[in-house]
Amino acid sequence: MNFDAPITIALSKGRIFEQTLPLLAHAGIEAVDDPETSRKLILETNHPLIKLLIIRATDVPTYVQWGAADIGVAGKDVLIEHGGEGLYEPLDLQIARCRLMVAGAKEANLSGNQLRIATKYVTATRSHFAGKGQQVEIIKLYGSMELAPLVGLADLIVDLVESGNTLRANGLAPLEHIMDISSRLVVNKASWKMKHTTVIQLLDALREAVESRDQIEG
Ligand code: PRP
Repeated sequence: MNFDAPITIALSKGRIFEQTLPLLAHAGIEAVDDPETSRKLILETNHPLIKLLIIRATDVPTYVQWGAADIGVAGKDVLIEHGGEGLYEPLDLQIARCRLMVAGAKEANLSGNQLRIATKYVTATRSHFAGKGQQVEIIKLYGSMELAPLVGLADLIVDLVESGNTLRANGLAPLEHIMDISSRLVVNKASWKMKHTTVIQLLDALREAVESRDQIEG
């Protein structure tokens, strides 16, 4: 593939990086370094014009919004909390899939008013309970949400659930489904205009990679 403009792609380490790599390979892009072994934050690729930035998942939309990266891969959960300003979200990559759920003790009451909910996902939580006409108090945490109901900090939590193992290991259960989550391709609005040909070329190749993978998986 011949790209004619420099493109920087923001990714987070771990699941998103690992699952985006095969999709990029479909577009002929291969990382030269492995972020799990290298401490570098800017990774070269086999293509001189394409670079990868390795940043925290929650920072990906910010880098793309400000044009420090042209393109990024971010979970829908992260995008909802960020708000999506300055970004286009043209493609669901259907990777890093999980569910955003209300969770708590099996017998927990879900319907009361003034329930205390601990979560990293304040915006999604507020809109979920507002949609049900329920007034709740939200306590913002940055991780290990499962602890909050165990020590009386909150009645319930809102967290991502994949296998359910973390909840089970802490004696909690998923109680209410809020939404399915997957990672999305996001594009800076100025890059979309200024580097249109290259961005569209990359977007088409990634869309094709997602579709052909879905056909293989049935
Ligand atoms: C997520 C989430 C849960 C766990 C769910 O945390 O916050 O703790 O994964 O997965 P499971 O249902 O398969 O057990 P993650 O490991 O992504 O780290 P985080 O706590 O930093 O969000």
